[in-house]
Amino acid sequence: PVDAQLKPHETIPKTDKPVLVCILDGWGENENKDKFNAIHSAETPVTDALKEVPGRWRTVRAHGTAVGLPSDADMGNSEVGHNALGSGQVIDQGARLVDIALEDGSAFELDGWKYISESFSDNTVHFIGLLSDGGVHSRIDQLVGFMKGAANDGAKRIRVHILTDGRDVPDGTSIKFVEQLEKDLAELGCDAKIASGGGRMHVTMDRYEADWKIVERGWQAHVLGEAPHKFTSALEAVKKLREGDGKAVTDQWLPPFVVTDEDGKAVGTIEDGDAVVLFNFRADRMVEISKAFEYEEFNAFDRKRFPKTRFVGMMQYDGDLKLPARFLVPPPAISGVSGELLANAGVSTFACSETQKFGHVTFFWNGNRSGYFKEALETYVEIPSDAVPFNEAPDMKAREITEAGKEALLSGKYQMVRINFANPDMVGHTGDLEACVGACSLVDKCVKELLDTVEALGGRWLLTADHGNADDMVQRAKKTNAPLFAEDGSPLPLTSHTLAPVPVAIGGPGLPEGIKFRDDLPNAGLANITATYLNLLGFATPSHMEPSLI
Ligand code: 3PG
Ligand code: CO
Repeated sequence: PVDAQLKPHETIPKTDKPVLVCILDGWGENENKDKFNAIHSAETPVTDALKEVPGRWRTVRAHGTAVGLPSDADMGNSEVGHNALGSGQVIDQGARLVDIALEDGSAFELDGWKYISESFSDNTVHFIGLLSDGGVHSRIDQLVGFMKGAANDGAKRIRVHILTDGRDVPDGTSIKFVEQLEKDLAELGCDAKIASGGGRMHVTMDRYEADWKIVERGWQAHVLGEAPHKFTSALEAVKKLREGDGKAVTDQWLPPFVVTDEDGKAVGTIEDGDAVVLFNFRADRMVEISKAFEYEEFNAFDRKRFPKTRFVGMMQYDGDLKLPARFLVPPPAISGVSGELLANAGVSTFACSETQKFGHVTFFWNGNRSGYFKEALETYVEIPSDAVPFNEAPDMKAREITEAGKEALLSGKYQMVRINFANPDMVGHTGDLEACVGACSLVDKCVKELLDTVEALGGRWLLTADHGNADDMVQRAKKTNAPLFAEDGSPLPLTSHTLAPVPVAIGGPGLPEGIKFRDDLPNAGLANITATYLNLLGFATPSHMEPSLI
């Protein structure tokens, strides 16, 4: 049971001044403090100074079981991080729910499975998704688990459409995952092949409608069997496409390709009657492709052909839109989130980020809800992101977001203002150390502007992050932690998130002086932050939430 109403805090009075909650996406507090820690290497006088304030700076766990992931070897990510920050609860996340459903076999008893089973005997079953063991959007072992289930239940023909990763796992690993998948396909005992693919940042896995062209390329390759590159082997495709045309291409950015037979005919177009499974459990990058498969009426691009398929997601990605209508495993049910409680309490909120993180501070924050709780009380502002590799434009929209945040704070219209800066994460994912250092320096300056604004208004603020990323930009030796280098002496970039905890700091002239972090929660995680900012807003900790840090 969840509390539907917020109660006043016992000692912290409500304030008529704004409370700022600021998320630095991908800003971990990493023990490795060499030059490959982009935050450490950046000019960060503002966030550095916060560490010196007694009792008002600490770190919290942002990975593994602390945020509902299957194991403590799992790095954090923005989905689970923002779910925890917004809901104050540690919830079994998609990755874990799929594991359980596969382990106990319940996945094969549910409606979604029964629905696609209808296509097993006479049609093809297609699996589309991110091919890696990153555990952020998908996992290859889960894909294999479902393919085995299909083969056991009589599937005659299986086709896999792979999106190469290099973002949640090191670049170059696409090759080993394709080799592994081909081995697994050969062992299924039915006609099973890789049919098409491409890099996740260029093909299919767009998010928040940043660039529908990405999804269109995927549709053409997976459904129509059309792509600029055709190969008779997926392994050869990935190896050749990585070489690029004069300039090497990373896994994330591989162009779309189609696998053909010797006569040049695509081996796995998607046809009427086929089953289609999106095997990612995470929502953000599956919503657009789901719409393309599910919606009769659709005008984001010209699909040319719209096959009548039995279409399911690994999960239902959007509970409000009921998208997709059918799914293999029910998604986490997240209730009693802070956004809803604050709306019930009549608190006006403002949320802002740029496109790449916009759904993080709204959709994920609100427990994977795409709408509003009380629209009149909630203002959501999206600053359009550029559609470029972000190491080429590492400032991203940090300045614009800062301006929007300041304006919201100064307007007097909002009791709570929440902001997400995308740079440390999005530039961190490029693996470009220099660009990431610059990005972190800029974000520190932007934080200063926001905190100065709150200070001038007499408000309160909380600064934190959702997971690590920029705090380590190099792959390291497992035992010694020493940076790893390529044969040519260049460091091997780390493009993924890290396991580092994240900082939390509180302050502002409106915060009563004696308010300090308690010292009896050494293992606190992101979910403990929710009650903390509710306290800053003058509300007591709801009974269903993790304890406040203060
Ligand atoms: C992505 O989708 O860009 C990465 O897999 C995870 O990044 P995020 O969790 O920070 O969005
Ligand atoms: Co990220």
